[in-house]
Amino acid sequence: MTYAFRVDDDKNLEHLYWGPKIPNYDDLLYLTKSHVAGPFDPVGSVPAISVAKLLGLNELTGIDTGAADKWKVFTKQKDAEDGDTRGRRLENASWRLWNMERHTGGDLSVDVSESKLRSSLKMDRHASSASSRDNSPPPPLPSSLPLDASFLDSDSDQKLSNISGKGHATRTVERAQGSLGTDNTARTAVGMLPVKSVGDFTDFGKYAGARPGVTSPGPTSPALGPRRELGTVTGSSFGDIHGVVEMAWQNLDSTHVGKNTKLLEWSDSGTGDYREPSFKLRFQKDGSAICPLQFKNHSVVHRKLMMPSTSLPTVYTDSPEEASTLIIEMEDPVSKLKFMLYYTVMHDYDIIIRRTTVINEGSDPVVLEHLSSGMVDFDAEHSYYVTQLSGGWARERQVVTRKLEDGVTVVKSVRGTSSHQFNPFVVVSPDREPSEDDGECFGFCLVYSGNFSVTAEVSEYKRLRMNIGINQEMFSWRLDSVHGENNIFYSPEVIMSYSKTGLGTLSRDMHRLIRERLVPRQWRYKVPPVLLNTWEAVYFDFKHETIVDIAVAAKKANVEMLVLDDGWFGKRNDTTTSLGDWYPNREKLPYGLNGLVRAVNEAGLKFGIWIEPEMVSMDSDLYRAHPDWCLFVPQRKHTLGRNQLVLDFARKEVVDYMYKQIEKILNSANIEYVKWDMNRHLTEMFSRNIPAERQGEISHRFILGVYSMFKRLTTKFKEVRFESCSGGGGRFDAGMLAFTSQIWTSDNTDAMSRMNIQYGTSLAYPLSTMGAHVSVVPNHQTGRSATMKTRSLLAMCGTFGYELDPRVWDGDTIEEIQGYVKLFKRLSNLIYEGDLYRLWSPFRTTSMAWMVVSRDQLRAIVFAFKVTREVGRLEPRLKLRGIREDLLYCVEELCPGTVTMNPQNGAIMHDPRGVYQIGKRIDVSGRTLMSAGLPVKFLFDGDSVCYEVNAVDKNGISLIRL
Ligand code: DGJ
Repeated sequence: MTYAFRVDDDKNLEHLYWGPKIPNYDDLLYLTKSHVAGPFDPVGSVPAISVAKLLGLNELTGIDTGAADKWKVFTKQKDAEDGDTRGRRLENASWRLWNMERHTGGDLSVDVSESKLRSSLKMDRHASSASSRDNSPPPPLPSSLPLDASFLDSDSDQKLSNISGKGHATRTVERAQGSLGTDNTARTAVGMLPVKSVGDFTDFGKYAGARPGVTSPGPTSPALGPRRELGTVTGSSFGDIHGVVEMAWQNLDSTHVGKNTKLLEWSDSGTGDYREPSFKLRFQKDGSAICPLQFKNHSVVHRKLMMPSTSLPTVYTDSPEEASTLIIEMEDPVSKLKFMLYYTVMHDYDIIIRRTTVINEGSDPVVLEHLSSGMVDFDAEHSYYVTQLSGGWARERQVVTRKLEDGVTVVKSVRGTSSHQFNPFVVVSPDREPSEDDGECFGFCLVYSGNFSVTAEVSEYKRLRMNIGINQEMFSWRLDSVHGENNIFYSPEVIMSYSKTGLGTLSRDMHRLIRERLVPRQWRYKVPPVLLNTWEAVYFDFKHETIVDIAVAAKKANVEMLVLDDGWFGKRNDTTTSLGDWYPNREKLPYGLNGLVRAVNEAGLKFGIWIEPEMVSMDSDLYRAHPDWCLFVPQRKHTLGRNQLVLDFARKEVVDYMYKQIEKILNSANIEYVKWDMNRHLTEMFSRNIPAERQGEISHRFILGVYSMFKRLTTKFKEVRFESCSGGGGRFDAGMLAFTSQIWTSDNTDAMSRMNIQYGTSLAYPLSTMGAHVSVVPNHQTGRSATMKTRSLLAMCGTFGYELDPRVWDGDTIEEIQGYVKLFKRLSNLIYEGDLYRLWSPFRTTSMAWMVVSRDQLRAIVFAFKVTREVGRLEPRLKLRGIREDLLYCVEELCPGTVTMNPQNGAIMHDPRGVYQIGKRIDVSGRTLMSAGLPVKFLFDGDSVCYEVNAVDKNGISLIRL
């Protein structure tokens, strides 16, 4: 992709472009002019349309109407006159040429000569001769154009030149799409000038007008700015018209072309841009909120800059060469407030990561009221669509797409977590709803787990502004003066991704980055053990022996780890008590945690444990000892959720205490896995010990406290795998994934519900991060039933585990489960590391299908599920994606069904030999699989099909080298 912006004359950052990769020798400045609604003044008093004046059409000065109407009056007059169309023809021709050269890819470095204009006039006459019958010879060209060198050196051009001369007229953040390397060689290889570019950042201004094969003008001198490239001034009078028109646009009065009509990269409020700003603040000295920023400086470093002194999660790199970072310094010269905008290009991913830091270098405190991690202005389109992931408890991340209308659309959380209701991930698609395989998509994924907002504003011009970051609602942050301790604020990172081939590519790019550069290093590519979680098996009702019996029974089916869920600590037997008392419940676990873990280990299973450290029950020793450690406002009622209160993680002593409790537990026994839960949202966001003027900081400080504890625990217990959870998938976000390689996707374990939930989640997050378990039927959340096959195949598209009570498994069930565990083991690397191709959306059809393809395209696994079957309707053929057209693949159906239908009477029958869709195996080309597809037949709601696809040679021998 290419991403471009520039510094304009007022030192704003003006956004130019985000889209497919384009050549970096193109001068994109024309984009700043093409759509701007400027005045139409044929006289040239505002020199926007100065051609008429230049051509000597002074008649217009006599027309006494408003400027905009003059041209109409003039042309009518002309039409009524005696066929003298010279002026208009010349005018039209000159505009046509100008437009042609400027907008349709004409070569601006070539002299636009008089003869060219003459031939254009001829064409013009030919075109119009039929109607005008005007056979007069071409008119003489005007020869008295007011052009001299000083004209081009006029003020605004000079400014541009100066900026360009310093090397920062225009910046691009780009990546050579499709090529593996992103160094200069790679870019040269895709046909670009061998320019002296800085990492992945290119200064367009320096190379304005340059073309392949033409010597680059090199760094521009202040006196000879890039605008000189627009036309050749020597000799040709017509070339001068380019200059004049160009300068005229350049000089448009800012009352006509103010900030509100510009595409910006960063925007203040209260100084003429009436759209959603990227930041808001208030100066404490005088209460004013005006802070227009100016570009001050930039630098490029050849690595990803990490944020110092904050626990905010970030994307990381394995080596400095993987990334380059452009740092833009903006300042308010009056207050000495500094904004640092960071743009990191991840060279091996088609991804840009943005974030912002604010530093108060002034002598008075400032309160930050809003700060985006990134803002992007999109130019006008006929329409824009936003796709979001929203829902609620037990139906998280449903795919919702809406057409944006004029005004502001907000996707947000004020719950203290990213929430079940909305997710900090959105996709923008111009002109149409996003499709899987084609069309443009722009993705934003915030690396943050607290209150967030994504605002999408369609302006009066049909332009779209996107802002993403911490939610400004219930947020403020006081920046001390330069003399104080807290004069810096860091925004979270936002991952930005672009695809011109639909949502599928966008998701795959996101997945790869999250899998390889966000989840903790030690867990990348490591498939977790198949676990059994006790929650739905026994809830709170267990004791030592119960858990040991469960472990012994689970082992028979080759389950590898037992996770003891809620209810093992304090006096906890239901939700009313004991959160905060993190020591074993002696009545249930008389041998302590260590005794239990040893027994489970002896049964041959690893051991994992559930915790909920951010919470406290009013009926707990912790609350009795520290009633002021929860979030509450003195003298006001506490709002309970699930019978519990939220601990004040904005306070260091609370986090430190809780860290020690959990550290003690993890040290007390051989615990290899932790499920960190969080079962209610934040209310009464007030913190004791924090001064009144900082109370707006609580929600952000809370999540920083959570992150800091995650950081300490995951650093100290590197070998312990963490899973996060928040009443199911209430905190499924990129922030959490930086600490926990997996997240419990939803408390809804019903297979049919999971089809939607897992599908929606996959828009942003990889399958490897989705906690997914087989649970009992009828399902505890929905009362529905699905076969073991369907439940297992769906759970396999995630971390794979069980929420069942294995003590009731009979021999057949054990054998069946053994089979699925074995299958998962065989396929898990492919599922965890391969590329996901979504085939059927449950949000658009009544089925769900996807496939995972190995990076070398030699292997694939295909899953198709029926949500609700309609009698008498056939499924379309399932057209595969992502494999190679030119290879032959062997397709085998895995876990064939055992249900069939008696064709005589329609009765459902059981056939233990297996019921296959297309026989046991077919060998067919990738081209056919993707064009003609595979047949799929579903017999009942929740039915499923699974195909394994492996590349073979013409003799049917596998091409896969294991
Ligand atoms: C909510 C989680 O999502 C469940 O899996 C379970 O751990 C319960 N909390 C326990 O209270």
